[in-house]
Amino acid sequence: MNADAYDRGFARLSRHAVAPLLARSRSARRLLDVGCGSGVVTEAALALGSEVTAVDADPAMVELTARRFPGAAVRRATLPELPFDDGEFDAVAGNFVINHVPDTAASLRELRRVLRPGGTLALSWWAAGEMTATAVLSDAMEAAGLASGPPRPFAADAGPERFAALLAAAGFADAEVESVRWRHRVDLDAWWTEVVGAGGARFGTIGRQPAAVAGLVRAHYERLAAPYARDGFPVRAHIAHARRP
Ligand SMILES: C[S@@+](CC[C@H](N)C(=O)[O-])C[C@H]1O[C@@H](n2cnc3c(N)ncnc32)[C@H](O)[C@@H]1O
Repeated sequence: MNADAYDRGFARLSRHAVAPLLARSRSARRLLDVGCGSGVVTEAALALGSEVTAVDADPAMVELTARRFPGAAVRRATLPELPFDDGEFDAVAGNFVINHVPDTAASLRELRRVLRPGGTLALSWWAAGEMTATAVLSDAMEAAGLASGPPRPFAADAGPERFAALLAAAGFADAEVESVRWRHRVDLDAWWTEVVGAGGARFGTIGRQPAAVAGLVRAHYERLAAPYARDGFPVRAHIAHARRP
């Protein structure tokens, strides 16, 4: 991905979930930020005084986070396998990564493994059907006759009850899922430029289309996004908290 475009665009949206994500791990000494992207969780955890390790599957994200936050130990790693010993962390936080991993159950087992007994897990993901900020882009692609990216394997796991059951099956205790809603106020031109420019699996394809096709998607985007220009896109995220017994 283009990590700088991600940081200018999507990370301004994802950072709204960071405070509730870290609410139960504020006193963690050793914290793992999994799927760190451009480092919004790393930045907040460092400010709270944690020793932060951050990993991401994408080398460009690793490079950007390492450059921005030299106080963190940043390396490349891809769930469901992590290059850490059992019980190495007091807390694991993953902001909008669990919905990208290929095997949710195996990833949860791996996150449990690297937590010490009593350690805390916090994971966020988007509430299905309530993520207007990207729905306008996928709807615009569909209206222009383009498939909006690869199928999302996480969809079946995305409900709070189903996810809490997966956490229990992976060996976590005290699983709770909260919901957070906010409005993403953003310049609509800038949102298009940065999200398409980030080159991710879902919307990066728009930038690789012939100009006429990309222009058609853009026209549909402008129509679909216009109602949100003043008050922003309504979005809702789920945040799961759990503890390794
Ligand atoms: C939506 S971004 C979230 C980034 C950051 N946590 C934030 O809140 O802005 C998802 C991140 O997860 C990373 N990712 C996707 N699949 C992954 C996997 N299997 N293991 C580790 N990271 C992964 C992507 O490269 C991307 O940086």
